[in-house]
Amino acid sequence: MSFTKRIEKALSAAIERGQSGPSPSKLASALHYTVTPGGARVRPTILLSVASACGDDNPALADAAAAALELIHCASLVHDDLPCFDDAETRRGKPSVHCAYGEPLAVLTGDSLIVMGFSVLTEAADLDPVRAIALLKVLAARTGMPGGICAGQGWESEDVVDLSAYHRAKTGALFIAATQMGAIAAGQDGEQWEDLGARIGEAFQVADDLRDALYDEETLGKPTGQDDLHGRPNAVTELGVQGAISRMRDILSGAIASIPRCPGEALLAQMVSAQAEVLTPIKWRAEQASRIAGE
Ligand code: IPE
Ligand code: IPE
Ligand code: MG
Ligand code: MG
Repeated sequence: MSFTKRIEKALSAAIERGQSGPSPSKLASALHYTVTPGGARVRPTILLSVASACGDDNPALADAAAAALELIHCASLVHDDLPCFDDAETRRGKPSVHCAYGEPLAVLTGDSLIVMGFSVLTEAADLDPVRAIALLKVLAARTGMPGGICAGQGWESEDVVDLSAYHRAKTGALFIAATQMGAIAAGQDGEQWEDLGARIGEAFQVADDLRDALYDEETLGKPTGQDDLHGRPNAVTELGVQGAISRMRDILSGAIASIPRCPGEALLAQMVSAQAEVLTPIKWRAEQASRIAGE
């Protein structure tokens, strides 16, 4: 089964469990609205790619880990869009959850999805209790304080921001969780996979800065120009578009060099290098192509 099918199946099963039995129908509906259809599902795809490179000897556990990670990510987006954070009216091409369901249900949707992320892993613990606990540990560390996405969002309320700690926690944390959890689900030591996740997360942050600067809301499905609007430091202001693209590609080359030894090392290197193309904004690629054609 493809990674996409595995991810969607595991997510649907989790959401259906959350909707079963007598439960408040609007909140139950908001869970599904938030998670489906998804965005790029980049974190669970990386997780399964690493699991696969490490032998993927317990695929059901890897699927649970992938769903758990994506649920936490979806929760973070719901909370991030709230009026008290970024006050964003759209997400993934449709009204953000608080616009569609109201603020109280959006807060509860985020809360429920965070808990669901952890319970997917506790439900899967019978598959391999030792690995499941290690997965829960990593997911907790990369979700909360001091090194998780909560910390990342928390930096935005500080007067003085440590930029690298901010980016590492806000964006890097769930990419580190992706590589480490993929390895752990396949029975490997997660520690040595931190560097790869951190580097992919850093490249992704630069790509996100590029998208924010280059695209409009209709193309991206969420508000753009936010970095400028909020005066957030970003790679495009710092380096320009070409400079930011070069930086992103450099970081990904470093990421490839940091892949730990594993049976599927070569395939994983290909996947990371393909990310350079995926993350380079389409608009920029098209402009480059027509420039070359006109020369
Ligand atoms: C958006 O993440 C939030 C950031 C950390 C930049 P994605 O760009 O992965 O969002 P989806 O899941 O594809 O919508
Ligand atoms: C969202 O960051 C990151 C988290 C929720 C952890 P941003 O606010 O920069 O991303 P978008 O532009 O809303 O996706
Ligand atoms: Mg934000
Ligand atoms: Mg935002």
